[in-house]
Amino acid sequence: MAELMLDVAGLAVAYGRTRVLSGVDLQLARGKTVGVVGESGSGKSTFAGALVGTTPISSGSVVVDGVDVRGLKHGALRDYRRSTQLIPQDPYSSLSPRRTIGQALAEAIEPRRARVRANRDLIVSWLERVGLSADMMDRFPHEFSGGQRQRVAIARGLIIDPSLVIADEITSALDVSVQAQILDLLADIKRSLGLTMIFISHNLAVVQRVSDEIMVLYGGRVVEAGPVEQIYANPQHPYTRRLLDADPGSPRFSLAD
Ligand SMILES: Nc1ncnc2c1ncn2[C@@H]1O[C@H](COP(=O)(O)OP(=O)(O)O)[C@@H](O)[C@H]1O
Ligand SMILES: [Mg+2]
Repeated sequence: MAELMLDVAGLAVAYGRTRVLSGVDLQLARGKTVGVVGESGSGKSTFAGALVGTTPISSGSVVVDGVDVRGLKHGALRDYRRSTQLIPQDPYSSLSPRRTIGQALAEAIEPRRARVRANRDLIVSWLERVGLSADMMDRFPHEFSGGQRQRVAIARGLIIDPSLVIADEITSALDVSVQAQILDLLADIKRSLGLTMIFISHNLAVVQRVSDEIMVLYGGRVVEAGPVEQIYANPQHPYTRRLLDADPGSPRFSLAD
């Protein structure tokens, strides 16, 4: 079997007495993308938080690239958080309005120093890779469209070559046409760099565009998981069938909600 990058076993997360994830198992090989799909409140972002080490795990284990996340403290936890990058839904709230795009990317490379000039080549290469240009380095987030900001967020997440990338609803706030462009971009980068990715969305058609495998969450539990083709050809769980039926037309892969 291909090298295992992520091994989640029996993962449970509770907020106080409320359990929001139970018994989640997931294995992901290096270079593969798993799409995590589920309705709002099904526990997708909680799962993302548990993977990047910001949400406390109640029981079970998360092992990334051979490292057990639950045992990490201090410097090791900081290093781990750098090696697993979360790309958020709304980059506007995570990009500082006072920092240029160049500064935001420099900060991703060197959190404490953020030297733009010293990292110029790398920053420019990433801006170009996500379909932006070098002259955009000196501009501020408010000068960009939602789609462009999401491109910046992708560049910022990937510029330090993380072992695991988690994209949480990164196209949900965008128009359908822009959504498609961002998905194509991500699929492209994924192929050329061999990213290992967790791609989260409430929309199965969106997930299908970039994923090798799919995991369906419902009420904090995995109700179905497997290769994309298998899920589409032969959905087992009633919730998955409803998700498929909600996509109008044939082929079933409409991006609109
Ligand atoms: N910090 C928190 N404290 C308490 N409950 C939370 C917290 N974050 C999320 N929840 C609850 O956990 C459940 C799962 O939320 P979330 O993981 O955000 O779902 P999703 O991302 O699939 O919409 C929801 O019922 C939500 O209200
Ligand atoms: Mg969420």
